Amino acid sequence: MNAEDQKRAAAARALEFVSAGMKLGLGTGSTARHFVDLLGERVRAGFDVVGVPTSEATRAQAENVGIRLTTLDETPELDLTVDGADEVGPDLSLIKGGGGALLREKIVAAASRNMIVIADDSKWVPALGRFPLPVEVLPFGFGATRRAVERLLARDNPQGQAVLRTANNGHAFVTDGGHWIIDASFGRIADPARLAHDLAEIPGVMEHGLFVGLAQVVILAGSQGIRVVERPSGAAAR
Ligand code: A5P
Repeated sequence: MNAEDQKRAAAARALEFVSAGMKLGLGTGSTARHFVDLLGERVRAGFDVVGVPTSEATRAQAENVGIRLTTLDETPELDLTVDGADEVGPDLSLIKGGGGALLREKIVAAASRNMIVIADDSKWVPALGRFPLPVEVLPFGFGATRRAVERLLARDNPQGQAVLRTANNGHAFVTDGGHWIIDASFGRIADPARLAHDLAEIPGVMEHGLFVGLAQVVILAGSQGIRVVERPSGAAAR
C-alpha cells in the first residue's frame, strides 16, 4: 500500500464507527478527504447523516459528494468528528493545523462527544514536536504576538523559530477565519498541556494546533495493516 492507499484504508475503518442518523464533524486534509469521499458514497446509497465541515474546502467537497450539512448554531452537539493529524503522541495528544484549519477543527472536535483521528502510521511519534506547531494569530498586533511566541520558544527550544506561514503568492497564508499562522518549531514537546495553556494565554493567539484530551481513538494505517489505538485510561480527558 502506498501512503494514499493507507490514508484511504484508515478512512474506511473509521466509517465502521459511523451509524445512521449521526451528527458528524468532517475534518480537513488529505486523509479526511478520503473519509468525506467514502461517506459520500454511502450517503448516495441512502445512508442518512448530517455533517459540520471544518473548513471551506471540506464544505465544498461534502456538498459535491452529497452529504447534508448543518452548522454548530443549528446543531451545537455532535456525535463524532473524524479528522486527520500531523502528529499523534502515545497519549493521543495531537499536532494539527498543517492544512491551516486548526481553529475550526478544534471548535468542531470540542463540540463532539467523540473524536477519531485517521492517519498513516508515519504520523505516530514518541513525543510531539518534530512537526512545527501551527499557531493561529490575529493579523492585528502580529509583531507583538510573534514576540510572545518567541519568548516561549526561548524557554523551551532556544534554537526554535516562529515563522509566518506564507501562501504560494508569497503573502501571508490567510485562514478561513481571516487569521495568519505562525509555525513554531518547539522541538520535543515534553508537556503538551502546559504549552497549550501558555500559548492560550497570549492575547493575539486565536488557537494553537495542540489537541490535548480530544481524540479517543486513532486509526493508523501502515504497510502491516490497520492499528486502532484507544486513549490510555488516565490520559487527559475533556
Ligand atoms: C488541517 O488543518 C490539519 O489539521 C490536517 O488535519 C492535518 O494537517 C492532517 O492532514 P493530512 O491528512 O493531509 O496529513
